[in-house]
Amino acid sequence: MTNSQRKILVTSALPYANGSIHLGHLLEYIQTDIWVRFQKSRGHMCTYVCADDAHGTAIMLRAEKEGRSPEAQIAAVKAEHEADFAGFQVGFDNFHSTHCEENRILSEEIYKACRDKGHIAVRAIKQLYDPVKELFLADRYIKGECPKCGAGDQYGDNCEACGATYTPAELKNPYSTISGATPVEKESEHYFFKLPDFQQFLQEWTRSGTLQNEIANKLAEWLDSGLQEWDISRDAPYFGFEIPDAPNKYFYVWLDAPIGYMASFQNLCDSEKGKALGLNFDEYWQKGSTTELYHFIGKDIVNFHALFWPSMLTAADYRTPTAVNAHGFVTVNGAKMSKSRGTFIKARTFLNHLNPSYLRYYFAAKLGASVDDFDLNLEDFIQRVNADLVNKLVNIASRTANFVARAGGQLSTSCVEQAMVQQFIDAGEQIAEYYEAREFSKAMKEIMALADRANEYIQDKAPWAMNKEEGRQQEVIDVCSVALNLFRQLMTYLAPVLPELATKTCEFMNLPSLAWDARREILLGHTINKFQPMLARAEMDKVTAILEETKAELAAENPAPEAAASKAAAKPEEQKKDKKADKNKGPALREDGSEVIADTIEFPDFAKVDLRVARIVKADHVEGAEKLLQLTLDIGNGETRNVFSGIKAAYKPEDLEGRLTIMVANLAPRKMKFGMSEGMVLAAGPGGSEIYLLEPNDGAQPGMRVM
Ligand code: MSP
Ligand code: ZN
Repeated sequence: MTNSQRKILVTSALPYANGSIHLGHLLEYIQTDIWVRFQKSRGHMCTYVCADDAHGTAIMLRAEKEGRSPEAQIAAVKAEHEADFAGFQVGFDNFHSTHCEENRILSEEIYKACRDKGHIAVRAIKQLYDPVKELFLADRYIKGECPKCGAGDQYGDNCEACGATYTPAELKNPYSTISGATPVEKESEHYFFKLPDFQQFLQEWTRSGTLQNEIANKLAEWLDSGLQEWDISRDAPYFGFEIPDAPNKYFYVWLDAPIGYMASFQNLCDSEKGKALGLNFDEYWQKGSTTELYHFIGKDIVNFHALFWPSMLTAADYRTPTAVNAHGFVTVNGAKMSKSRGTFIKARTFLNHLNPSYLRYYFAAKLGASVDDFDLNLEDFIQRVNADLVNKLVNIASRTANFVARAGGQLSTSCVEQAMVQQFIDAGEQIAEYYEAREFSKAMKEIMALADRANEYIQDKAPWAMNKEEGRQQEVIDVCSVALNLFRQLMTYLAPVLPELATKTCEFMNLPSLAWDARREILLGHTINKFQPMLARAEMDKVTAILEETKAELAAENPAPEAAASKAAAKPEEQKKDKKADKNKGPALREDGSEVIADTIEFPDFAKVDLRVARIVKADHVEGAEKLLQLTLDIGNGETRNVFSGIKAAYKPEDLEGRLTIMVANLAPRKMKFGMSEGMVLAAGPGGSEIYLLEPNDGAQPGMRVM
């Protein structure tokens, strides 16, 4: 092991139990999961717990709307959440709920400790109350007319029309969004956590390396302007825990939510798994604990985690977090996730169409340790995943494995590129530092630079060419053994990001694991298994399908006028575009009838066309088609394409089989009378019998990109 074994407890924020997991959430859970898997790979004792955040008015009302008890509601959502997380390979050691006995006991204990030390105040406050529903109304349940500009239908705290901010009591003609009733002011007793008692402590704690600088700076503004007492009680009816010795008063959801981290860990310690792992609750939570505790959260909930939470823990004599790691918000194509644009994408919808490894990699490839927002650009996403994972990474194994397999599956007993393999091994130190610091994008960049070098090596040695020469068989195996050793190094570094590919790599390379330190031993004379396709290309039309499905979900939920309006508005624009395209149809001709060179394009336009070397594995006549042949193309990685091509007058099917050609691999599939055509092969010539199919030079392999 690199350094001695650390004991680390890690959490992600607890998702609310009243909605589905979406791509925004996933940034956090995937970020955390990668970090945890990295720590585990390094041999540390790292435990990852989470839970559903099950309390509060919103969940109570949601259950009512669904016609079931809150308990039934949160149980259903928990099952959904767990399935979604499993789908994205988020490997919690425990996923619990805040609505549980462990949490009730801990919440009461922590509250009592605060109270007994004098950190709780009780006083009456006035609040708006729904006399029909008999419920105190949080700001978001009150609407009315803006006191400044008079705009209708504005929320209780700010006006979307003129930007004014105010209190709900200032709204004109206010109404409860729950019952429609006019709210009345009502007084009731509330319990407050005396946050100002912790001013001094927080001043130090927030500057002790526990927070990112940008977060610490923001909190400093609050600390400097003086802290307010925190209202921790809600009146019945409320779905939550009753406050001890305070009948009909409940803990505000944010009081018991972070305690849910402890409850989930407690639940794990008490389970069979926890016992087998030797986990001890006190060892991790007692004051002065030498274990590490990290919370991963979004930047919107920093005050709860960096002000209230460490203060409560201190008051109750528990340890405080080692660090709180905040991240920014996910945007899609540069804009906030939007239901009407179809970019408010649920985890499940994504899984219905695309491999989760794609998203895990894209998050890693662009995520650093800052709180900057994260833009998921959907085109870049597809392009990046294919370029890095399919074309670079998997390609290393897919074009060398078969040579070894055909020779019996044994790697060479000595390494002919000791120095290069050693460089790959040594690179692990820097990559580990990047992971540790949550600089995943830097780690990915480093790894892909290594992948480039591996590919250059293979390209340079060209084992496929060697293989055709008499007496160079051993050399071929030597080169491929080097390549596969490099591949194993790369997969060790990527395993935290791509657990599914890691598993496939272990099967293929016949390895018990890809533990970080195991990489130091080069594989010599080692027997590997047959290479199986690891990752298919990501397709843009799947993204389109996701956006469509998301829009359809919205339409099913509520036939929104907003969506209808934006569609109508988009129409004339689209029509205009179509017309323009029509006018320019067909190439311009020179006087001699040859085609004029087309308009200049920029490189990025060219790069959009993904040209691939393809092997024609099968060619057939198509019944009833005068000009077409049906081609089955092997484009590497075990992937085949069906293409109908108008080359019948120029080629006999049997002459084509086995030959290599070039195809457009990312052309949108086209439905033809005879079936789907999934791309297009490249040919030159005026047509008829004068068609000349393109063919690459020797050495090209199916799947190689043409640039
Ligand atoms: N229940 C609270 C957390 C309690 S922790 C003791 C909560 N839940 S949430 O479901 O709204 O959010 C869960 C986590 O997902 C939060 O850290 C939040 O910041 C994060 N995200 C929710 N939407 C997000 C994006 N669009 N982008 C990135 N993260 C986002 O808050
Ligand atoms: Zn206004």
